[in-house]
Amino acid sequence: MILHIFLISTFLVSNAAESNNIAIYWGQNNNEGTLSQTCATENYSYVIIAFLNKFGNGTTPEINLADHCDPSSNDCTMLSTDIKNCQAKGIKVLLSIGGADGEYGLVSSEDAKNVSGYLWNKFLGGNSSLRPFGDAVLDGIDFDIEKRLKGKQQHWDELAIFLKSYKNSTQNVYLSAAPQCPFSDGELGAALDTGIFDYVWLQFYNNPECEYSQNDVNQLLDSWKRWTESLTVGKLFLGLPASRAAADNGYIPAALLCESVLPLVAMSRNYGGVMLWATYYDKQCGYSSYIRSSLCTPQCRGNDCRRKENKWWVWIIIGVGVALAISLIFCLGCTLRKKKKTQVDGKMNQKKVLHEIESDVVLSDKARSVEIEDGKTLSNLVKE
Ligand SMILES: *[C@@H]1O[C@H](CO)[C@@H](O)[C@H](O)[C@H]1NC(C)=O
Ligand SMILES: *[C@@H]1O[C@H](CO)[C@@H](O)[C@H](O)[C@H]1NC(C)=O
Ligand SMILES: *[C@@H]1O[C@H](CO)[C@@H](O)[C@H](O)[C@H]1NC(C)=O
Ligand SMILES: *[C@@H]1O[C@H](CO)[C@@H](O)[C@H](O)[C@H]1NC(C)=O
Ligand SMILES: *[C@@H]1O[C@H](CO)[C@@H](O)[C@H](O)[C@H]1NC(C)=O
Repeated sequence: MILHIFLISTFLVSNAAESNNIAIYWGQNNNEGTLSQTCATENYSYVIIAFLNKFGNGTTPEINLADHCDPSSNDCTMLSTDIKNCQAKGIKVLLSIGGADGEYGLVSSEDAKNVSGYLWNKFLGGNSSLRPFGDAVLDGIDFDIEKRLKGKQQHWDELAIFLKSYKNSTQNVYLSAAPQCPFSDGELGAALDTGIFDYVWLQFYNNPECEYSQNDVNQLLDSWKRWTESLTVGKLFLGLPASRAAADNGYIPAALLCESVLPLVAMSRNYGGVMLWATYYDKQCGYSSYIRSSLCTPQCRGNDCRRKENKWWVWIIIGVGVALAISLIFCLGCTLRKKKKTQVDGKMNQKKVLHEIESDVVLSDKARSVEIEDGKTLSNLVKE
């Protein structure tokens, strides 16, 4: 029973650590530090390189990483080491395609097929003489599709299927998507319906109709509920600005997030963690540090927190269990000692009786010697 309780509490604790998974975007700010530095904080489980913002319809694809490196002079191959450093820490590194700015879009199934081949050979497990990030093999592709080619049918679902088809028994091709919080995202809805996305970071910012605003968490929670109920596979992440400056709106103060939002969203069976936009803002304000600190673990997430109550009960149960165990051990000890004492007492009594009888016999020996004429010996007397 004790072991059982121990296992339950261990599960609760490890569950807490799990729910603090953080995904972060890197690549769009010159002052955010290197990719290696970002991973070295150990605050993130997923780092998403943003963006490949030019591709499709026969255009020559281009990455844009602000001034981190110049892709036109093949300068971004230096990221190869950084990517491997991150992966060595167990952090998954993905490339985000799309973004708010850029020229991208797929015009046909063939286009989707072509782009999938490009991504596979240039960034994933394929090969090419010219790979933008050198020989580093990224863990997957993130779909941050925020634009649409006018009047054109989207082919993101096909791109996703083509990309996933490259996975084999030893290496997965992870797929993630960053839809806007209004359900269901106009650009990515069909792609998500394929059910092959591993991670979905919902953007609860720059979307006033479904994000947090003015101390009201209900709108966000309603939207979250619709998404978690409709997406049956993959992990869902709460996508938030890492500071007030990171987005026009949608910022949730960290303490409020930990007290009133995370305890509720983390109850969803497909909850994965928090996505933050973006590295620079997190570095300025330490939002991820707060989420990962004890201030934001389930037992400290506010007064009316269900998980806290769970914890409280667990401790009571552990207390009772330990008390029971101690009294059990004590009782066992008591019984054993009593048994031994009875044995000892018994032996002592026996000896005493023997002694008394002996002395009796010795004392009265002479007096009785006349009476005991029928030849009864001392030993016979003792036996009696
Ligand atoms: C795709 O490229 C062709 C040729 O450059 C161009 O004429 C067409 O308008 C493009 N399609 C879209 C939807 O942008
Ligand atoms: C296929 O993609 C490449 C980029 O990898 C591009 O240069 C080429 O024009 C594309 N071909 C077609 C038919 O769209
Ligand atoms: C799986 O794909 C990777 C490249 O992503 C390759 O290195 C590996 O050999 C493949 N494994 C199998 C079993 O085909
Ligand atoms: C990729 O590898 C295959 C087999 O390993 C080889 O046949 C092919 O020429 C390579 N392609 C490039 C672009 O290096
Ligand atoms: C990461 O977390 C540590 C504490 O766990 C904190 O000191 C550091 O500032 C955090 N890094 C960022 C970028 O927030």
